[in-house]
Amino acid sequence: MSSETVPVIEALNVKKTYMLGRVPVEALRGVNFRVEPGDFVSILGPSGSGKSTMLNLIGALDKPTSGTLLVDGVDIGRLNDNQLADLRRRIGFVFQFFNLIPRLTARDNVELSMAISDMGKSERKKRAIELLETVGLKERVNHKPAELSGGQQQRVAIARALANNPKFLLLDEPTGNVDSKTAREVLALIENLNKEHNVSIIMVTHDEKLAHQANRTVKMFDGEISSDVVN
Ligand SMILES: Nc1ncnc2c1ncn2[C@@H]1O[C@H](COP(=O)(O)OP(=O)(O)OP(=O)(O)O)[C@@H](O)[C@H]1O
Ligand SMILES: [Mg+2]
Repeated sequence: MSSETVPVIEALNVKKTYMLGRVPVEALRGVNFRVEPGDFVSILGPSGSGKSTMLNLIGALDKPTSGTLLVDGVDIGRLNDNQLADLRRRIGFVFQFFNLIPRLTARDNVELSMAISDMGKSERKKRAIELLETVGLKERVNHKPAELSGGQQQRVAIARALANNPKFLLLDEPTGNVDSKTAREVLALIENLNKEHNVSIIMVTHDEKLAHQANRTVKMFDGEISSDVVN
């Protein structure tokens, strides 16, 4: 089988139960889900429906309680902590609150994520600048987060997520903390990465309109997938 035919994500009856003291909280109640290379999938659903839980599992930040979750063909339930950490380096994660380091410039924030790679210093610097160009921030490489708008900070976070050539990009409410015009700009960038650079995208959002820009919309309700439609 060629690598192209391996789904990026395959979830088979995935369940996740958190223990809150002695009280179990069933965050995922048996999810079946598949993402093919090049897909752009949005995940919609009310607060508490399990969206972030799902994204954290896909991002190898956590393991399912039961069921099978294959990430790029690898069963994450069988990986030890070191193997999970290796896998995470090949996944681009963009969080709701940008998570940039305030003290560092845009370029240094992007460069930092390449620190564990075997690239030399000058190569990392060159790549960081290229990535910032890709997200339209060529003129802002030396700005610190506080010197950037919300949308620009989110674009730095996206550039950083792309630094290690990830297999796919996970975005948790990437437009949750920016105004609607900026949200449209961030979304245009995400669409461009998907179409022009063939990056597979999984994006959690509360915004129905943004969700329908994706090729597929998955709706979650109470720990289950309630619909999965091609847009
Ligand atoms: N670490 C945890 N310990 C216990 N319960 C948790 C934990 N994380 C999440 N939960 C519970 O699991 C359920 C799903 O949470 P999750 O964060 O996945 O929801 P969500 O769909 O991302 O919501 P939101 O839109 O508010 O971000 C919720 O009922 C939540 O309270
Ligand atoms: Mg969430």
